[in-house]
Amino acid sequence: MDTEPVAPAAPPAPAGRQRLPEPLGAAFLARPEETLAEIRETCPVARVRTPAGRPAWLVTRAEDVRAGFMDPRLSLSGGRAPAPGVRRRALDVTLVNYDPPDHTRIRRLATPALTPARMAAHRERIERAAAELLDAADAARGRGPVELMEAFARPFAFRSLCEVFEVREEERAALYEPVALLADKTGRSAREVEESVVRIDAFVRSEMARREADPGEDVVSRVLAAWHQQGGAAEDEVASLLAMLLLAGFDSTVQAIGMSVVALLGHRDVQESLREEPSRIPRAVDELLRWDTPGPFSTKRVALEDVRFGDTVIPAGSGVLLSVAAANHDPRCHADPGTLDPDRATAGRHLSFGLGPHYCPGSALARLELTVALTAVLGRWHRLEPAVPLDELTWGGGYLHRRLTALPVQPGGSA
Ligand code: HEM
Repeated sequence: MDTEPVAPAAPPAPAGRQRLPEPLGAAFLARPEETLAEIRETCPVARVRTPAGRPAWLVTRAEDVRAGFMDPRLSLSGGRAPAPGVRRRALDVTLVNYDPPDHTRIRRLATPALTPARMAAHRERIERAAAELLDAADAARGRGPVELMEAFARPFAFRSLCEVFEVREEERAALYEPVALLADKTGRSAREVEESVVRIDAFVRSEMARREADPGEDVVSRVLAAWHQQGGAAEDEVASLLAMLLLAGFDSTVQAIGMSVVALLGHRDVQESLREEPSRIPRAVDELLRWDTPGPFSTKRVALEDVRFGDTVIPAGSGVLLSVAAANHDPRCHADPGTLDPDRATAGRHLSFGLGPHYCPGSALARLELTVALTAVLGRWHRLEPAVPLDELTWGGGYLHRRLTALPVQPGGSA
């Protein structure tokens, strides 16, 4: 979902071939909205070259992005049906490589397991995880700064996933390693990546066996129950679905927590008002997701036919990126988009979870985690300041999944 498939960079353009702009490099990661605003307002459907050297079309106006998410001619499978009867490992097939109807038969196994009501049942344990991690951070820091990604965002998002999957305590440390490695493969060898895939595959299959014998209220049991009731999926596809929930559910939420805190560090008035009235945090979460998102674009789609957006026709066979971040800051959809307004009436129309058939099935869990995390952090510390200037924060990952490398903060006093 979040990475561009690795492929050799395109050879230099032959003489006479159109030279495409390359706006998605390192500078883009820190401030995507600046680049995207310019594209949206000057050339809303733009042909660019990605950092991996491949051409792609960027769709940037909110109305067009919404239409793109709903358009079956923009395919995630590239028009290929899954090959029948091939033995696969958990991560060889994923929901985001499928189009309806194959997508629908797999996806419907996950939806009932992840509803807001089901996630709310885990709230108390998720709140306890947040409090324990902040206790540990406070104990370790003395009066000094805290690196919030390492001390809080990463372990909190992982523990939240473990709570909804009801992963046994003794298995958590071993599971964290491959999940964290696959979320950030920077500097990792192909062998390490392969070993992590094997470990996740083994974990998911052993959980499936455990929950077949002893079902509970956890996500694995719920997915298995839906599978037995509805059928229509191979065992490998169910294993793949579960592995994808684990992986897609981790780093996206880690980064959304970090980016929300960055936004609050840059807007002291909003930080203080939410601290005074934490009941406004659940609504503010949507505005924070509109403000910044780890995924500025959708997963890449392929146009199966010519597709028109306004005056521009994207030819069949082209790669298309729907720009969630550009849409989230489109003044045609959100008035005064450069203001962080925790009470914004249109905040719920952000596209950070996508739209349509592939709309993020983990959105209820992500919203719950963000609400619990921000409530805990703001409630714990009376004041929170950046420990380095915000424009010196370092960003990694790639244009499809931005990653905040570290977030040093200076808390001022404990509640
Ligand atoms: C703030 C955190 C999150 C963000 C910003 C996010 C964003 C997204 C987006 C934009 C999509 C649609 C991609 C597309 O159509 O191109 C998506 C899909 C998906 N997300 Fe999330 N997500 C988050 C958290 C989660 C969590 C917690 C889980 C699992 C527990 C999850 C699991 C998935 C899965 C499995 C898909 C694929 C759905 C499909 O293809 O039908 N995500 N996510």
